[in-house]
Amino acid sequence: MILTSLLLGAALVVTALGAPAASSTEHAPVPDATIPPASDYDWSEGAVTEFPIHSSCNHTEVHQLRKALNDAVKLAEHASQHILRFGNESEHFQRYFGASPTAEVIGWFEKVSRGDRGRVLFRCDNPDGNCDLEDYGGHWRGENATDETVICPLSYETRNDLEQLCGLGYTVSGSETNFYFASDLLHRLYHMPAIGEGIVEHYSETFADVLNLPSENPANAVRNSDSLQYFALDVYAYDVAVPGEGCYGEGPSEESSATTAEPTSSQVLSTSSAEPTSSEGYATAAPSAASSATAEAVTVSTTSSAQGACHTHSDGVVHCE
Ligand SMILES: *[C@@H]1O[C@H](CO)[C@@H](O)[C@H](O)[C@H]1NC(C)=O
Ligand SMILES: *[C@@H]1O[C@H](CO)[C@@H](O)[C@H](O)[C@H]1NC(C)=O
Ligand SMILES: *[C@@H]1O[C@H](CO)[C@@H](O)[C@H](O)[C@H]1NC(C)=O
Repeated sequence: MILTSLLLGAALVVTALGAPAASSTEHAPVPDATIPPASDYDWSEGAVTEFPIHSSCNHTEVHQLRKALNDAVKLAEHASQHILRFGNESEHFQRYFGASPTAEVIGWFEKVSRGDRGRVLFRCDNPDGNCDLEDYGGHWRGENATDETVICPLSYETRNDLEQLCGLGYTVSGSETNFYFASDLLHRLYHMPAIGEGIVEHYSETFADVLNLPSENPANAVRNSDSLQYFALDVYAYDVAVPGEGCYGEGPSEESSATTAEPTSSQVLSTSSAEPTSSEGYATAAPSAASSATAEAVTVSTTSSAQGACHTHSDGVVHCE
């Protein structure tokens, strides 16, 4: 554009003065210094655009994983677009993030929808033996291989399709976030340092606690793994699955509210999850990737040994890592 108008300008001057073309090239304008010389550099060289899936996954597992990962991206993409469209005016945004600035939340979703996939590996074997634990759907390998996640057979058998959102009796406020394979993988992606940066963590987990988080600790709400998952499911349900309606459900049940429930052992878990402790197995204060993985795998099983490596939410739903 600049070059064109310079040339045009030069041509007009030449015409006006009636000078020969040869003399105009002698006094040609100095080349625009802002236009770089041609280069072989290609910024996108080596970019990884598809999530790598390990050879330990059989064909069926690869198909299911591929589909669910694409759906996780769809969830994240829409969540980001919803906020870009409505900003903090969105009631859904306010529900999970209160009066927080929108940019960090958009950023966490953009990382899933458009981030490089190079440092994220999904595998289907059982290198750490955790798939043998009852109710184990998968786990981040943490200290053993920080960029890897294992998806155990249970996930392929039990996680539901995103197309089934709002079906099967599911409600946002009453069901687990791992009800759908897509949101379960969103959670697993946030454990990967390349995506969650060790910042997206489990600061609060039950739906009631997630709703309390914006007023209790808004800085944690915008980087709480479950808040991001619930928000993504909620807006996808409302905007896409059942437009203008969604399937929020009745809100947190009495038993799942930290302030009203009986002091059962699972209640202790849900109450403690609001505190920056690791009693639920989740390091909460920007921990190193490895230490948090260890806590997740080890402490969870010690806090509710009855469920093996799982813990029971105060609403009675068993949640496994
Ligand atoms: C939305 O963000 C603006 C700043 O852009 C702020 O003034 C306003 O209070 C926020 N509203 C809510 C409901 O958080
Ligand atoms: C890492 O490997 C060890 C030894 O196999 C295992 O005991 C531990 O549970 C593994 N850690 C994770 C996070 O799976
Ligand atoms: C692939 O693995 C799953 C377990 O996740 C198993 O149920 C299935 O039979 C396997 N499929 C093939 C074709 O081997």
